[in-house]
Amino acid sequence: METKVLVAYASSYGSTQEIAEVISETLRSQGLTVDLQLIRNVRILEGYSAVVLGAPLYMFHWHKDARHFLSQHRKILADNLPVAIFAGGPFAKGDENEWHEVRAKFDLELAKFPWLTPISVEIVGGKFDPTKLRFPYNLIPILKKMPASDLRDWVAIRAWASSLAAQFLSDLPQ
Ligand SMILES: Cc1cc2nc3c(=O)[nH]c(=O)nc-3n(C[C@H](O)[C@H](O)[C@H](O)COP(=O)(O)O)c2cc1C
Repeated sequence: METKVLVAYASSYGSTQEIAEVISETLRSQGLTVDLQLIRNVRILEGYSAVVLGAPLYMFHWHKDARHFLSQHRKILADNLPVAIFAGGPFAKGDENEWHEVRAKFDLELAKFPWLTPISVEIVGGKFDPTKLRFPYNLIPILKKMPASDLRDWVAIRAWASSLAAQFLSDLPQ
């Protein structure tokens, strides 16, 4: 069977979509066949050998599409399919603590799915632009005053995707 990987993502403002695209390109460059899809467009997981699931955190919670995806596909994800997970993301420049806090918060989110044993979990930097905030976030003064930032580290993201590719290629039937 062909080793086909699904990269499924949610993205409200587009920055996670760009990360998912780079992960897909990296997996493809290592010889894997990849489907890149919005989480909400994924219907079935049959035919895939592995899943990379990525979504941003909003207000301390992982994007609802990602949570819904895990619940919806629980059986196949728990029994048969390796899952790698990424979540964005910290966006305060120069605040190393934020990364630890986000990781701790995200671990709490994943603990809601005790049956899930991801092969890898990665926190990636986020992108924030106060001029693009939409309702209701554009009504929150503290958010509107925060500086724009983009903490996505493309070298680290590609390195993580390459490590996944190596894992998929060694563990999955070719
Ligand atoms: C209103 C708002 C709330 C956010 N809450 C969190 C959060 O709780 N934890 C976190 O790590 N990042 C948080 N972020 C940062 C986003 O996860 C980050 O901007 C991410 O890159 C957005 O992804 P998207 O462009 O794919 O929607 C928040 C961003 C906004 C605008």
